[in-house]
Amino acid sequence: MVEHKEIDDVSGVETTGHEWDGIKELNSPMPRWWLGILYASIVWSIGYWIVYPAIPLVDSYTTGLFGYSSRAEVASEMDSVREAQAGHIAELRSASLEQIRTNPDLLEFALAGGRSAFNVNCSQCHGSGAQGFSGYPNLNDDEWLWGGTLDEIQYTIAHGARNEMDDDAHLSDMPAFLTDEILSREEIADTTQYVLQLSGGEYDAGAALQGAAIYDEQCAACHAEDGAGDNELGAPALNNAIWLYGGSAKAIAETISNSRSGVMPAWGGILDDVTVKQLAIYVHSLGGGQ
Ligand code: HEC
Ligand code: HEC
Repeated sequence: MVEHKEIDDVSGVETTGHEWDGIKELNSPMPRWWLGILYASIVWSIGYWIVYPAIPLVDSYTTGLFGYSSRAEVASEMDSVREAQAGHIAELRSASLEQIRTNPDLLEFALAGGRSAFNVNCSQCHGSGAQGFSGYPNLNDDEWLWGGTLDEIQYTIAHGARNEMDDDAHLSDMPAFLTDEILSREEIADTTQYVLQLSGGEYDAGAALQGAAIYDEQCAACHAEDGAGDNELGAPALNNAIWLYGGSAKAIAETISNSRSGVMPAWGGILDDVTVKQLAIYVHSLGGGQ
């Protein structure tokens, strides 16, 4: 090495002895600031390895001086959230729906829980804004199949309707008037015109008059004489323009001919009591609660 040492005439810096086509490489030292940062990073990383979990071993890893773990941190945060909620959840469990509704603090907690449980379990059928779809009732209005008091809503959520999951599910089925050969097509067409009259739609007066007599005989027992419906039987009101299955003459005739039998699952066996309560409070708050 030593014999190669040579001082460059122009810069006065020693060369490395490497030479290509007469061009020689200067042996300039690394800048001090650069070396400073390099050494500082080495010291920092050694400190880091000692203090924090760092080096993978065969089936574990070095845990560091303080045993820090981001998982444990999340777990302890979750624990403290659960602890903070535990008080409220215990209160919800023992309070009646009416007590929850009138206690602003509990109400806020129940609504938040109800909203998130609704998004997870109910929105696929009832829509994310609970606006419903054909066959799946809108839960924002004050038109109820099975009743809109807190207790009725809780019952419907817990037991559902026409399902095989719960012996206490709401039952009651509208007959399929054509399939079951109770009414002829003409009679159904006439009754359809009367239902349109009841609901305030456009109708054929002659046919509706015929239909009125059939309605009184075949339908009033469930839908009431004036078409107001019956929450005991899950029979919707027919004297307004809110339709579960559609209000065109075609849709109404289809409902009368073949019946519909909407199925709502029973959530009592799937969700815990407190969640069902929170859902009842939430649905009741959507606008149609009685
Ligand atoms: C698989 C689809 C489905 C899911 C999921 C579902 N529902 Fe329903 N729900 C229905 C149907 C269908 C009806 C109408 C039943 C009928 O025709 O009698 C209904 C009716 C209701 C009613 C009664 C409305 C009234 O007018 O009386 C309430 C309240 C209700 N659902 C709440 C919920 C809640 C809360 C959830 C989530 C925990 C939920 N539903 C999940 C299908 C569903
Ligand atoms: C045994 C009781 C019962 C009788 C009798 C009955 N219905 Fe119904 N009706 C119901 C029920 C329950 C529903 C709701 C079905 C569902 O939710 O799937 C319904 C739904 C309807 C609907 C759908 C309303 C909407 O919002 O889409 C119409 C229309 C209707 N009935 C008309 C009639 C007419 C007309 C008759 C007589 C020819 C009749 N019903 C007889 C129980 C009855």
